[in-house]
Amino acid sequence: MDRIEIQLYLMSMEYLLVSPESLKRAAEVLRSGGLVAFPTETVYGLGADAYNSEALAKVFEVKGRPRFDPLIIHIASIKALGDAADLSLLNEETRQKLFLLAEKLWPGPLSLVLPKNERIPNLATAGLSTAAFRLPANELARELISLSNGAVAAPSANPFGALSPTRAEHVRDKLGEKIDIILDGGPAHIGVESTVLDITSKNIRILRPGGTPKETIEKLIGAVGDNDFQAGEMAFGLASPGMLKSHYAPQTPLSAFSKKEIIRLPCEKNCTYLFFDGLSRDKWLEMSPNASSFSVLSETGSLIEAAARLFDVLHELEKGGFSRIYAQFAPQEGLGAAINDRLRRASSE
Ligand code: TXA
Ligand code: MG
Repeated sequence: MDRIEIQLYLMSMEYLLVSPESLKRAAEVLRSGGLVAFPTETVYGLGADAYNSEALAKVFEVKGRPRFDPLIIHIASIKALGDAADLSLLNEETRQKLFLLAEKLWPGPLSLVLPKNERIPNLATAGLSTAAFRLPANELARELISLSNGAVAAPSANPFGALSPTRAEHVRDKLGEKIDIILDGGPAHIGVESTVLDITSKNIRILRPGGTPKETIEKLIGAVGDNDFQAGEMAFGLASPGMLKSHYAPQTPLSAFSKKEIIRLPCEKNCTYLFFDGLSRDKWLEMSPNASSFSVLSETGSLIEAAARLFDVLHELEKGGFSRIYAQFAPQEGLGAAINDRLRRASSE
């Protein structure tokens, strides 16, 4: 491409603040097979009409995402689930669990794996007969979906394997020129992706820990299994790359440690520390008075605040020119499970 062509190409992306007009415009683009990045309460999604194979193919291409990685289908109401899922294939027990989960936890950061119907092209689900469905809590997202064809496939709006976007600027910086519209609706307040729960198999289990804690799900439907990496690979082949070992990774190498380990860790040249809470940072400062660069996810140790800031802080650190990030694991409870999962997969070791 020569220079003028490149400029025209770059100019074709529209960066719009959310408004009734821009939502309408974005829905039109979705209906005509275009790509729209939009805010959800977890992270920004890269949306395409879930019923349109060509639009879905663009999502894979723009993200550099392998075709074996199925997409999450976003809907705007519980009622709309019947338009894209085949609920007649569920037995009575599963159906009851589904309605309980949907009634109590939707809209919210929970994706449910269910049988899909024939309207959803196989490309969306990497050939699986199931799809992950999600009803986002973000009202603007729901408005956009209901103005479109009613089902929007949306992976996180980042290049495959890289950090997830929690702000419209993250999308613009990494994918900007490749998509038709970026809708800026401010920062995503949960900050980690939805929990993916498979309720169709006999052993109900979490395929990806995320914004809905396991404890919350178990209170409603009893014990659920964890995302056992080995089991996941066996059950899905490579169908669930959210479960791939290297994912959600910053360009800067990252190593993650327990509190006990990190406060004693000698810094390699030009490294930076990412503490979970202020107390751990203080302990470390006591032990290493010549301490160098550091950040804290939540001064008070709030898991909610830490999750909301995780990708934001990692995006900043990625730009900081450090040789390595030493990150501290969160307590393994509530949203801590999702934070630790992302840190483990971001880890370069
Ligand atoms: O919070 C979120 O879920 C965000 C926002 C944009 O809604 N979306 C998101 O999508 O994280 P994505 O494509 O990055 O993650 C999809 C995850 C992957 O781990 C994929 O393997 C799993 O969902 N998944 C999708 N369909 C599945 C299926 N039929 N069976 C098993 N896993 C599935
Ligand atoms: Mg993703």
